[in-house]
Amino acid sequence: MKKEVDFRKSPFPLPLVMIGAGTVDKPNASLYIWFSQFNEDPPIFAVAIKKKRYTYTLIKETGDFSINIPTKRCLKEADLVGTSTGRTIDKFKEYGLTPLPGKFIKAPLVGECPINIELKVIDEIVFPDHSMIIGEVLDTWIEEDLLKRGDKVLDIQKLSPIIVNYSDLSYHGLGEFLNFAGFSRRKK
Ligand SMILES: Cc1cc2nc3c(=O)[nH]c(=O)nc-3n(C[C@H](O)[C@H](O)[C@H](O)COP(=O)(O)O)c2cc1C
Repeated sequence: MKKEVDFRKSPFPLPLVMIGAGTVDKPNASLYIWFSQFNEDPPIFAVAIKKKRYTYTLIKETGDFSINIPTKRCLKEADLVGTSTGRTIDKFKEYGLTPLPGKFIKAPLVGECPINIELKVIDEIVFPDHSMIIGEVLDTWIEEDLLKRGDKVLDIQKLSPIIVNYSDLSYHGLGEFLNFAGFSRRKK
């Protein structure tokens, strides 16, 4: 039996991403779960950021940011950047992260994350406490050993991304591979 509940937090798994903002000389990083892709050609991603965050101020200043995918290996560092503010500390120095220059953006890429995406801000939708920053992808960097089939496919099992349960803010690993989309229509 289903229960009717006052459940305002996404009752579905959310992917964890780290945003790089500011500059390589004065870098900042923070953590996000309100994130997804909304267009394929060109690729457009959006992230909802609370307007009072330092990251929001930095993105407004430079007009760009990086999306970095943390994995099990750097979960501790990811949690640290998501629970402190760059207004008072240099999180990269403090938590041993490496700010790498992007090809097209001022914002730093996070070296410890095996996937880095460079984005420029193309639009913004302002909500009461958050703002949806809409970014167009300018470039994507993925560790070679995570790529297969002529660099077209990401080995998501090998990547080991982090999934978040928003209702208790807990981190989870990826489940098992089930099947490919369209499998139900394929003739055996
Ligand atoms: C698991 C997790 C997920 C988060 N997701 C978001 C999010 O989607 N949007 C947001 O505005 N803040 C989110 N935060 C909060 C920011 O990452 C956090 O406030 C960070 O310290 C901001 O850093 P800054 O002040 O240097 O910008 C999340 C934090 C954690 C721990």
